Amino acid sequence: MSGSDVTTLVAAATEARNHAQAGYSGFKVGAALETADGRIITGCNIENASYSLTICAERVALVKALSDGHRQFTRIAVVADTAAPTPPCGPCRQLLWEYCGDIEVVLANLDGPAASHSLLDLLPHPFDKRLLE
Ligand code: THU
Repeated sequence: MSGSDVTTLVAAATEARNHAQAGYSGFKVGAALETADGRIITGCNIENASYSLTICAERVALVKALSDGHRQFTRIAVVADTAAPTPPCGPCRQLLWEYCGDIEVVLANLDGPAASHSLLDLLPHPFDKRLLE
């Protein structure tokens, strides 16, 4: 993928971040998931008064994509307004691995892309359905 494609993906995540419902933490996050056929599905974090029911931006993007029928993914960008890039939390890593496999995870802040990892680097030795067989 070219640098301009990364810029487009990060821009989509940055725009999605503007829709975050983060009134409890004040920590707005945007995500943009890229499908194998080049589409971009975005998400933002959704908080609520029962704090533990918060849904991260990454999972919102993932469930939107899955419910629209997308099944093959290449990358996800995550954007927060932090100097150090914000990586996906543990539950998001687990779900991304289950449905996306070893995709690229682009971490960015409002200045643009700051880091890139493979999902397996973020979730080594994953538990998954292979172990249920
Ligand atoms: N959050 C995300 O949406 N994605 C991440 O990668 C890290 C954390 C959200 C959850 C919660 O709404 C807020 O950020 C603070 O944890």
